[in-house]
Amino acid sequence: MTDARDLVVAITGASGAPYALRLLQVVVRSGRTVHLTISPSGATVLREETGIVVDLDRFDPAALGDLGPGRVVYHHHQDFSAGIASGSFRTGGMVISPCSMSTLGAIAHGITTNLITRAADVHLKERRKLILVPRETPLSLIHLENMAAVTRAGAIVLPAMPGWYHRPESLADMIDFVVARICDGLDIDHDLGRRWGGERPT
Ligand SMILES: Cc1cc2nc3c(=O)[nH]c(=O)nc-3n(C[C@H](O)[C@H](O)[C@H](O)COP(=O)(O)O)c2cc1C
Repeated sequence: MTDARDLVVAITGASGAPYALRLLQVVVRSGRTVHLTISPSGATVLREETGIVVDLDRFDPAALGDLGPGRVVYHHHQDFSAGIASGSFRTGGMVISPCSMSTLGAIAHGITTNLITRAADVHLKERRKLILVPRETPLSLIHLENMAAVTRAGAIVLPAMPGWYHRPESLADMIDFVVARICDGLDIDHDLGRRWGGERPT
């Protein structure tokens, strides 16, 4: 049974694994079902940046901590028989967070050699929401042109670039800033920090 409220979340090998963990927490706690897939480099960066070790062949969502009452359905990154590899499987959108320049480049050129790039390609062809959260600096012309190409194809490029105007006091505040923008893009209600135009800090 597919549900148009199901979301696809993919973790690839750009720096920024804490954004992915927080995003999963917020989305799953909101009660949505998340179809999760992780690239091998995504697992490497997750280990480097958070100490969390995941076995991609025998994945247990509990490895990611307490994600709340929603549901996580894991798909191996090479499993092209997964529902999310097909346009007939309904979803409410997909996020790749963090999104490596390699995965961005593959999506920009329609190269679908793993489930992540295939599912992204499906979201573009079905005109569904696709949010890419790249992290790289500085950016080459190739990166910039790939970002322009995916934007022309309908994706939203939402770089992991926390703002300062909400006066963050912790790393958690800075992570939440980016996760809040992703949730806004997915129409997920959240209370991750003050919105501009709301009450100002003194
Ligand atoms: C610790 C670590 C940090 C990395 N940071 C980035 C990064 O910020 N951005 C990026 O595009 N690639 C980064 N890479 C390189 C990617 O992981 C590499 O290009 C990989 O092939 C991406 O594969 P994937 O897109 O299938 O996950 C990093 C790699 C490691 C090991």
